[in-house]
Amino acid sequence: MAGRILKDDIETLRRQADIVAVVGDYTTLKRAGRSFKGLCPFHTEKTPSFTVTPDGNFFHCFGCDASGDLYDFLMRIEGLEFPEAVEALARRTGFTLRYEELSARERRAIGERSRLVDATRAANDFFQTQLYSDAGKVARDYLKARGFGAEDAKRFELGFAPNEWDALSLALTREGLKAEDLIAVGVAMRNDRGGLRDRFRGRLIFPVHDPGGDVVGFGGRVLDALDYGDFDPPKYLNSPETPLYKKTRVLYGVPQARADIVRAEQVLICEGYTDVMALHQAGFSNAVATCGTAVGTEHLRMVSRYANQVVFAFDGDAAGVKAAERAWDAARELTSAGGGNLDLRVLVLPSDQDPADLVREVGAEGLRSAVDDATPVVPFVVGHRIEEADLTTEAGRTAALRAALEIVGREPDPDLRREWVRTEVADRIGVPYDFAVRTAQRMGIEVDRHEGVAVRSRQDRPTASSASGPDRAAARRERDVLRVALQRPELLPEEWYELTEEDLTHPVARSLFTALQAAGGPGVDLSAVLEQASDDDLRGVIRRLALEDDPGLPSVGHDGGGVADPEGMAARVAAERVRRLLAERIQAQEHTLRARLGELHHVSDADELRALQRQLIVLQQRRRELRDLV
Ligand code: UTP
Ligand code: MN
Repeated sequence: MAGRILKDDIETLRRQADIVAVVGDYTTLKRAGRSFKGLCPFHTEKTPSFTVTPDGNFFHCFGCDASGDLYDFLMRIEGLEFPEAVEALARRTGFTLRYEELSARERRAIGERSRLVDATRAANDFFQTQLYSDAGKVARDYLKARGFGAEDAKRFELGFAPNEWDALSLALTREGLKAEDLIAVGVAMRNDRGGLRDRFRGRLIFPVHDPGGDVVGFGGRVLDALDYGDFDPPKYLNSPETPLYKKTRVLYGVPQARADIVRAEQVLICEGYTDVMALHQAGFSNAVATCGTAVGTEHLRMVSRYANQVVFAFDGDAAGVKAAERAWDAARELTSAGGGNLDLRVLVLPSDQDPADLVREVGAEGLRSAVDDATPVVPFVVGHRIEEADLTTEAGRTAALRAALEIVGREPDPDLRREWVRTEVADRIGVPYDFAVRTAQRMGIEVDRHEGVAVRSRQDRPTASSASGPDRAAARRERDVLRVALQRPELLPEEWYELTEEDLTHPVARSLFTALQAAGGPGVDLSAVLEQASDDDLRGVIRRLALEDDPGLPSVGHDGGGVADPEGMAARVAAERVRRLLAERIQAQEHTLRARLGELHHVSDADELRALQRQLIVLQQRRRELRDLV
């Protein structure tokens, strides 16, 4: 709402509101001394570590460290901005807020919205009453036949629109509602004679709420047991676009699902009203649905306030793939508008099945694992393209490669793009990575080649921790680092402390490193290091390294070897040596990860795949940092 809420009102409301009662709507609280305890609504836990202290009007979770006052609580759990949280609390507690600096127009806008919400609320009450009337039996029977009980109907405030021309219009105008308002919210229309005609007739009604819990529109389903005369009605009818109802913005089930979305850090988006109900019934209370439209940026913007992971329950056929692709487009648009990075996944439903069918077939447990196995959206879409292709012919493979690269090329993150080209395109079509990269580049898709070079030589490149035997270049690099550690410890960069003995491949270098660390690290007396050495051979190496000339370092103390800043130069050389060693180690880890990634299946191991890809990106980033530091 526009206008600034009066500060006094914000404070008064904060003082007056009962934090235990409000928080108690989201989690069960038990008294424990001066506080109350319960399971934290912000993270999943088995023993209560969430406390509410009414005296101080604050909450704190010892598990996840969430804390704050009642407004913080509402902002966080409902995904609201501060003024919205104040307004939500005011609405819940029947407190009338005063605003300052309201222009006449803003006041009218506020007045108009409440008037319209009054109209939808009245319509909702009417529909609900009808569901429990004699005429509503047909709808109640239908619900029962679909496995929905009275609880479900109450939770979703289901209703029934009588199969008459103007039952709602008559009842509500008689109650004093204005015809214009009923028309404005889309529940009535003018008939030819200037009277009113109901929009929803002979339908089971699903009210659609905004996040704040106001009814903004309706969806209505035909009931096969009813007689519609000659008229062949569409299966579902939704509210038209109104000042309250914009289908690109509304999601069905948000007030019912929100707390669980926040808790699960995940939202399930499905396609229909009944899907949402079936999922909630099966224990997936984090499910919502779009209302007769594709998932768009505004939908994702709304859910991104509650959770980062979005799982789509779409049909497994081509329409589902298209829907997933569009959702991904919407998510990228959201990201480029500064809206954060959503983790999109697709739960592939067998064709002709919706989530309700799936629950019936595999049970809640089965559905749980299907949700856990949901495929990240890019592999999902690319995978579908590849499945369509004929990989047995050269032409088919080329077509598949181009189609897959075209999709991957839309990924804005260069690390992910490179990774997808490797794991989702090259590996799955069965072409060399370098070839895929070159094809991508010819298509104008940029893929960083840096990694490709590393991979091409992977067979002959030693890995730091492998037993394949140290090569001479690695041994020299290690000796160079250890020489600095013994002679000029003050030159070592902080990355030295990230090194472990595993990062050294040469056995002597490794023993030396161990002795040095055991003695207390770089800077200790040489005698202390010698004391830690296991044998005379090692002591010989240590003495030599401590004394011999370091050819890579500019000599200090004389004329600096002609270098302008010999001390700074020496520090740079030393730092570069250590960072190279570290980068080698990271590259070896990346190599191991990639090998593992290559063994994973994109569907059945989707979670591990995703986790490893993340690790890989972290390593790559670290290595790039090291490279940039040098
Ligand atoms: P479905 O036909 O899959 O809906 O359409 P459903 O809820 O699963 O239907 P039943 O009750 O099991 O047969 C999915 C969604 O598409 C929109 C509705 O929002 C519906 O929930 N839709 C569908 C329409 O808007 N109009 C239609 O004619 C059909
Ligand atoms: Mn269906």
